[in-house]
Amino acid sequence: MTWTNPATLPKASRWSKGRAGRGGGLGLDIVEVSRIKTVARRTPLFLSRVFAPEEIRYCRAKKKPWPHFAARFAAKEAVWKALGHGGVALKDIRVERDVLGRPYVLVQGRVRRDLELSLTHTERYAAAVALASGNSR
Ligand SMILES: CC(C)(COP(=O)(O)OP(=O)(O)OC[C@H]1O[C@@H](n2cnc3c(N)ncnc32)[C@H](O)[C@@H]1OP(=O)(O)O)[C@@H](O)C(=O)NCCC(=O)NCCS
Repeated sequence: MTWTNPATLPKASRWSKGRAGRGGGLGLDIVEVSRIKTVARRTPLFLSRVFAPEEIRYCRAKKKPWPHFAARFAAKEAVWKALGHGGVALKDIRVERDVLGRPYVLVQGRVRRDLELSLTHTERYAAAVALASGNSR
């Protein structure tokens, strides 16, 4: 995770300086499930600030929602890294699933076929890897 105090989750605008145009291609992130759960309980606006309503609905429908939330949080950070620029807020990055359950990415409401994403989660950790190809950077 790139943020230290989740209650003051940085806005993309604060991240962008000095990072714009860097990184890119590949992004990886790991998240402790308990941290996401703790932040969401302490900060009521956290979920709606970070996740799209569709993502919240999907995770909430699960028997154990927190690993799914954590995986999506990791996905957003991984995609952010893969894009290599700071012009995108975490909420602008959305994870959807195809009919087989495979994740795909929308950025600012548009499906990004040039971004590949894979998620995994256990009870304690969630991780994501994203790969940007073509002209995404
Ligand atoms: C899809 C599958 C690989 C997920 O693996 P898992 O160890 O259960 O779960 P993980 O934590 O690693 O991954 C979960 C994530 O995988 C992703 N996923 C789901 N289906 C997927 C698929 N068909 N392809 C790629 N990714 C998929 C989702 O993002 C999911 O996260 P979500 O539930 O929050 O949306 C697994 O459920 C499966 O179907 N395996 C088939 C294995 C098999 O056929 N074995 C036969 C020989 S023994």
